[in-house]
Amino acid sequence: MATFTLPKNSTIGTGKTYAAEPGAKNVKSFKIYRFDPDTGENPRYDTYEIDLDKCGPMVLDALIKIKNEVDTTLTFRRSCREGICGSCAMNIDGMNTLACLKPIEDVKKDVRVTPLPHMPVVKDLVPDLTHIYAQLRSVEPWLKSDTPAPPDEERRQSKEERAKLDGLWECILCFCCSTACPSYWWNGDRYLGPAVLLQAYRWIADSRDEYAGERLDNLEDPFRLYRCHTIMNCTATCPKGLNPAKAIGKIKELMIERQG
Ligand code: SF4
Ligand code: SF4
Ligand code: FES
Repeated sequence: MATFTLPKNSTIGTGKTYAAEPGAKNVKSFKIYRFDPDTGENPRYDTYEIDLDKCGPMVLDALIKIKNEVDTTLTFRRSCREGICGSCAMNIDGMNTLACLKPIEDVKKDVRVTPLPHMPVVKDLVPDLTHIYAQLRSVEPWLKSDTPAPPDEERRQSKEERAKLDGLWECILCFCCSTACPSYWWNGDRYLGPAVLLQAYRWIADSRDEYAGERLDNLEDPFRLYRCHTIMNCTATCPKGLNPAKAIGKIKELMIERQG
C-alpha cells in the first residue's frame, strides 16, 4: 500500500506573541506565518497585537508598523502601496489578495496572513517566483512584429482594436490567480496557469502583433493550456477584478477556430 508523508516543514507551530502597548484600546491580533529556511526550524505563526488607533487602515499598514516598531525580522515584499506593483500579494484571511488594498476592518476575527499558497517560500511572506517568471518569459510577453514601426509615430490601432485589450492590460502580475488555481497547484511545473495565460492572450489579441499563430502553436500542448478546467478560482480572487478564466477561454476558442 502506498504511504504518503508530508514534508517536515509542512507542520506549522505556534510562535511568539507580541503584546499590544499598555493602554491600547482598539487592539487587533495579526497571526503571521514565519519561516526561515536557514534555521532548519519548522514554520510558525507569530502573533502581533496592534493598536488600530495608531495604524493605517490596510493590512499592509499593519505589516509595515510591525516591521518598523515591533519586529524588524518580519520579511515581506511591497512597493507602491496602491495596488499597482503587485508585490504585496499574499493570502489574508484565506484569500489571495494585495495587502495594500485589503482593509483590516474587513477581517472580522484575527487577521491570519500567509504567503501565496503552493509556492516555495524564500522567507516569511516572500514566495519564490523564479519558476513562474520563467513561464512568463516563455510566452514572450512583448510586441513581436516584422513590420518596422513608422519612423515618426507610434504603431496605430483603431479604438475597436484597442478595446480588445481592456481587461488584459490592467494585469499587474501579482500571481494571486495562479496560486489560487488547483490545476496550477498540481501541475504548475508544466501548466502555465491563469496569470501567464492571460498575458499570452494579451499579445495574441493585440492587432499590432504579427505572431498570433506562433503564439498559439506555443500553447498547443496538453499541459501548458489545457490543464485549465474552468474552476474559476482565478477570477474569484483577482484583486484587480480581471477575468483570467475568460482569457483562457478565448485562447481555446482560437485554437478550435483555426482547426476548422
Ligand atoms: S478557471 Fe482555469 S485557470 Fe482559473 S482557477 Fe480554474 S483551472 Fe485554474
Ligand atoms: S489576472 Fe489578476 S490576479 Fe492574476 S496576476 Fe493579473 S492582476 Fe494578479
Ligand atoms: S504594494 Fe504594490 S500592489 Fe501592494
